[in-house]
Amino acid sequence: MRIGVLGTGGMADALGGRWVAAGHEVLVGGRSPARSRELAARIGAAAGSPADAVEFGDAVLAAVPADAAVDAVGSAPGRVVIDCTNSVAPGRFVLDEPRAAARLAEASGAHVVKAFNLCHVDVWRLPSLTFEGRPLGVPLCGDSPAALDVVRALVRSIGCAPVDAGPLARAELLEAATVFAIGLWMGGTDVRSMFPPVTPELLQR
Ligand SMILES: NC(=O)c1ccc[n+]([C@@H]2O[C@H](COP(=O)([O-])OP(=O)(O)OC[C@H]3O[C@@H](n4cnc5c(N)ncnc54)[C@H](OP(=O)(O)O)[C@@H]3O)[C@@H](O)[C@H]2O)c1
Repeated sequence: MRIGVLGTGGMADALGGRWVAAGHEVLVGGRSPARSRELAARIGAAAGSPADAVEFGDAVLAAVPADAAVDAVGSAPGRVVIDCTNSVAPGRFVLDEPRAAARLAEASGAHVVKAFNLCHVDVWRLPSLTFEGRPLGVPLCGDSPAALDVVRALVRSIGCAPVDAGPLARAELLEAATVFAIGLWMGGTDVRSMFPPVTPELLQR
C-alpha cells in the first residue's frame, strides 16, 4: 500500500518505519521539509509536503498533536485518514476535546479511522508485536467500511490484530480509556493486571 505520513516525530518515525519494513511505500510530509527528508532517509521512505502526504495513496497517518490535526490534514474529501492522536490535557490525564476525531472528519471530509493511539510510541518500535503468544490487538473506530478495510490490512501487515471497536463516535471512549491508562501507567500501575484473560468459561456467563 501507499501511505502518507503527516508529522516527523515519534509516531511518524515508529509507524512509518514499521510500514516500510512491512513492504509498504511511505511518503513523509511534515511541516518542516528538512525534518521530512531526514526522517524519510532514515526509514527508507520518500519525502514531500503535507499536501503530498494527504494525496499520496491509500491512507494518510495524522501523527501530529490532536489540536493540530484539523489544520494539518486540511481538506481531504474521501481520503482515508488514520487518526492516532490523543487529546490529552498536558499533565492532567483528561481529554481536552472529546470529539476530536469527529471534528477532524467533519472539517476534512475524510474517512477518519481512529487507530494506533492506544499504545506508547515505543511499543511500535519493538522487534515483535506478539505478546504472551498473541498478536497485539489494535482497536479501530470508524464509519466507512472501505476505510476500515484499508486500516485493518495495515494493522495485519505489521503482525497485529485489528479489533473492531465501533463507529467513529466511540473514538472518544477509546481516547478516554487511553488517557486513563496512561495516567495509571505513569503512576507505576501495570494496566494489564486489571484485565483477566477471557476464557470460554467467562464468555458463557
Ligand atoms: N508518543 C506516544 O507515545 C503516542 C502514542 C499514541 C498516540 N500518540 C499521538 O500521536 C501524535 C503524535 O505524537 P508524537 O509522539 O509523534 O509527537 P511528537 O514526537 O512531538 O511529533 C509531533 C509532530 O507533529 C508536528 N506538529 C506539531 N504541531 C504541528 C502543527 N501545528 N502543524 C503540523 N505539524 C505539527 C511536529 O512538527 P515539528 O517537528 O515541526 O514541531 C512533529 O513532527 C499525538 O497526537 C499523540 O497524542 C502518541
